[in-house]
Amino acid sequence: MPTVSINATRLNQSLLDLGRIGATPQGMQRLAFSPDDISARELILALMRQAGMESRIDPGGNIIGRKSGTSSELPAIALGSHIDTVPNGGKYDGALGVLGAIEAVQALTDQKIQLRHPVEVLVFTNEEGTRFHRWLFGSRAMAGLLEDEDRTAVDDDGVSMSDRLAGIGGNMNRVQQAGRGRDELAAYFELHIEQGPILHQSGTPIGVVTGITGRWVYSVEVTGTANHAGTTPMTARHDALVSASRLVLAVQSMASELEICRTGTVGTIQSYTNAVNIIPGRISLGVDFRDVDMDALAAADAEFRSRAAAIARLDGVSIDIQRFENTESVPIKPQMQDLVAAAAASTGLACQRLPSGAGHDAQAMAAITETAMIFVPSVNGVSHAPEEYSTPEDCANGAQVLLNLLLLADQRL
Ligand code: HGY
Ligand code: MN
Ligand code: MN
Repeated sequence: MPTVSINATRLNQSLLDLGRIGATPQGMQRLAFSPDDISARELILALMRQAGMESRIDPGGNIIGRKSGTSSELPAIALGSHIDTVPNGGKYDGALGVLGAIEAVQALTDQKIQLRHPVEVLVFTNEEGTRFHRWLFGSRAMAGLLEDEDRTAVDDDGVSMSDRLAGIGGNMNRVQQAGRGRDELAAYFELHIEQGPILHQSGTPIGVVTGITGRWVYSVEVTGTANHAGTTPMTARHDALVSASRLVLAVQSMASELEICRTGTVGTIQSYTNAVNIIPGRISLGVDFRDVDMDALAAADAEFRSRAAAIARLDGVSIDIQRFENTESVPIKPQMQDLVAAAAASTGLACQRLPSGAGHDAQAMAAITETAMIFVPSVNGVSHAPEEYSTPEDCANGAQVLLNLLLLADQRL
């Protein structure tokens, strides 16, 4: 296997350059389809050109950079991730995987090395799903996993996904053509920050991902009775926010005390009429349950609905629960884990195996090709917040392991 080194300075400079696009004092605001996302896509296309790649935008809006191999019959080995962020997010989530992939190809080009397999760098559309509440959109389009709700989705400003997609070069009418066959890609590898505390606490530079969590997301409407805050006796109220609060504590207890599933989070709440002198008549909640064991999510679903029914009876309110996201967990095959561990060893870096509590494009891509993920430490385990940080050394380590994984896979696949 040739020894090829990434350029750590160049990688960390491109992380800083990308990290400026959409940066605000409250954190990153580079939401999918936003003007900042569009500017960032221009930077990525320029870096791909510089690295000697041809690039195209598929109907799903995904950016596909490609460097040919010595053997045109072989399927490509793909590296990638996403560049859209959550609101008030960090500079490394997704960005490291995309820029680490481009740096790996740039290093090969600099050292005039052409692999047997073609190499592709994939930048997936709307991974976070903060827009349209349909996450992993681009990777699910490539994996042929889109649902009708994806095609008809309208964002919170009333703009259709189809129009937003057109704005980045995609085309909803041809989104089916973004699908790739199992014979087109030999493997997909994703470098990503861990977004949790395990590697940072253990002081291990590289994570070998063993599986990616399943995720069920719900919208919940609690309907009580709006009324006057000053004249309505406490015994005569049907206060939707009190009932919603009982439900929030139930979600927390299900995951933390009862350990029915690994995590339970109520990430959004809207109160209507949202005036201090009106008893809230309606509350909307967004609820996110996760576990690598899908039976645990099924148990959480049953417990959640049972708790909600009991609260509705107790408080005389109605609670409507709609599950709108149902993402299966994905195990990473042991032989793919072993390939990542071998790449870490060839880089002289210690590694440990761990599951991913975050979702990733890799869990969609696993439907059409062999898949593996590399993690690097997140300082203090913080992510999806402005304090998200991974050291330049850890970022460079991750990119080097990604390049060595690519070199190993080129020989073995
Ligand atoms: O929410 C997630 O797990 C990922 O960061 N999109
Ligand atoms: Mn991510
Ligand atoms: Mn994320």
